[in-house]
Amino acid sequence: MSIVYREETVADLEQIRRVNTEAFGQAAEADLVDTLRREGHATLSLVAAAEDEVRGHILFSDLPIDTESGPLPTVALAPMAVLPQFQRQGIGSQLVRHGLEICRGRGFCAVLVLGHVDYYPRFGFSAKLAQQIASPFSGDAFMAAELAPGALKNVRGRVEYPPPFFA
Ligand SMILES: CC(C)(COP(=O)(O)OP(=O)(O)OC[C@H]1O[C@@H](n2cnc3c(N)ncnc32)[C@H](O)[C@@H]1OP(=O)(O)O)[C@@H](O)C(=O)NCCC(=O)NCCS
Repeated sequence: MSIVYREETVADLEQIRRVNTEAFGQAAEADLVDTLRREGHATLSLVAAAEDEVRGHILFSDLPIDTESGPLPTVALAPMAVLPQFQRQGIGSQLVRHGLEICRGRGFCAVLVLGHVDYYPRFGFSAKLAQQIASPFSGDAFMAAELAPGALKNVRGRVEYPPPFFA
């Protein structure tokens, strides 16, 4: 069955909760998605759907980098999830790739993620690119990807994650 990658609709919301809850084994990430959406932080919410079944989900939220020369339009990738029985079939990778393309098309310069260090580098994320960006998260799991070549070159700044990320 072919999988379609598209933006969420209201009809998907319950299934998006299910995907996140089953993938993470808890409700915290599903709650985070709902809160970010409700409070207007969500920039792009994509689903991987086979007919009417949502099998995967990814969320991008506005997270500008504050620099001395003003804010740089950036998004945070979090969370992403694929139903356990459909993992390791490439759905997660397609969600990331489609998401990055759409964010690039919408004029964002970069994407930040706090995530698995063995997973995100394949999409261009690196901890080195995020080193000059001050955030409550630091270390190897805090990574950045440029959406245009050199977009983060010589960029120093800070990001303020909205409160739902700390709930
Ligand atoms: C992470 C996740 C979204 C990947 O989705 P997916 O559809 O299985 O991903 P793909 O099929 O495109 O890629 C599979 C690859 O992801 C890797 N992967 C999956 N979970 C991983 C993890 N926790 N750490 C590192 N790599 C992981 C697999 O090893 C596999 O690598 P390989 O291709 O080298 O064998 C999915 O495993 C999931 O929902 N996990 C639980 C929720 C989660 O951890 N979300 C990410 C939060 S940062």
